[in-house]
Amino acid sequence: MLDRNPNDLRAFWMPFTANRQFKQNPRMLVAAQDMHYTSHDGRQILDGTAGLWCCNAGHCRPQIVEAIQKSAAELDYAPAFQMGHPMAFELANTLVDMAPDGFDHVFFTNSGSESVDTALKIALAYHRARGEGSRTRLIGREKGYHGVGFGGISVGGLVNNRRVFGTLLNGVDHLPHTYLGDVNRWSKGQPEHGADLADELERMVALHGADTIAAVIVEPVAGSAGVILPPKGYLEKLRAITKKYGILLIFD
Ligand SMILES: Cc1ncc(COP(=O)(O)O)c(C=O)c1O
Repeated sequence: MLDRNPNDLRAFWMPFTANRQFKQNPRMLVAAQDMHYTSHDGRQILDGTAGLWCCNAGHCRPQIVEAIQKSAAELDYAPAFQMGHPMAFELANTLVDMAPDGFDHVFFTNSGSESVDTALKIALAYHRARGEGSRTRLIGREKGYHGVGFGGISVGGLVNNRRVFGTLLNGVDHLPHTYLGDVNRWSKGQPEHGADLADELERMVALHGADTIAAVIVEPVAGSAGVILPPKGYLEKLRAITKKYGILLIFD
């Protein structure tokens, strides 16, 4: 047990943070409202990233706060194994109504990392259930960030998130990233150059055989690598090539 001092910062091991530096000069957020955080020393800070892209409706919106409070007071938890909760079914239906045609089932998870690992598992199990169990390869992309699970770091392409965790999943390959600073710098909206980078998938199909590839996973807009918009036509090309070879395309 650590000796506890008031405001002791030692026990909490912060993710993706230089812990020693942070704890020497902590930047604490103590409250939030709409698009601002309040810091421990009373400053208002504009939240330009909506939390970690997860507070897009604004912070502490009364409607959302009340809905969370009401829900917790009514039924704080119900198991999802062999038992159900009406609101989970209702939410799934609402999402399906909002989604494009063909998206007709919802699987709930607790985080982005779990979503990614689950999507990869669903892809593998889907092919197996259809009698194409040889499709086990997963293809990610350089500079990709897909969370912190073993699946996500395997298909991800950020070296510092990968290098100390051994050989990761077998049979993973990576498309080239689409950050073409020289030709696309100062683009407004989607950049003009780089759609042909999707053709690398053809090369991978030629190398590995389409019947060994289960899925390609990319962030349509790469987030953690620095908000890299897809070149015009790139995602459409990925869609066409994956469709041609019966490979699933996962957008994270
Ligand atoms: C594209 C993408 N995938 C996965 C994740 C992981 O999400 P989580 O931090 O909820 O596990 C993130 C998180 O920022 C992300 O940006």
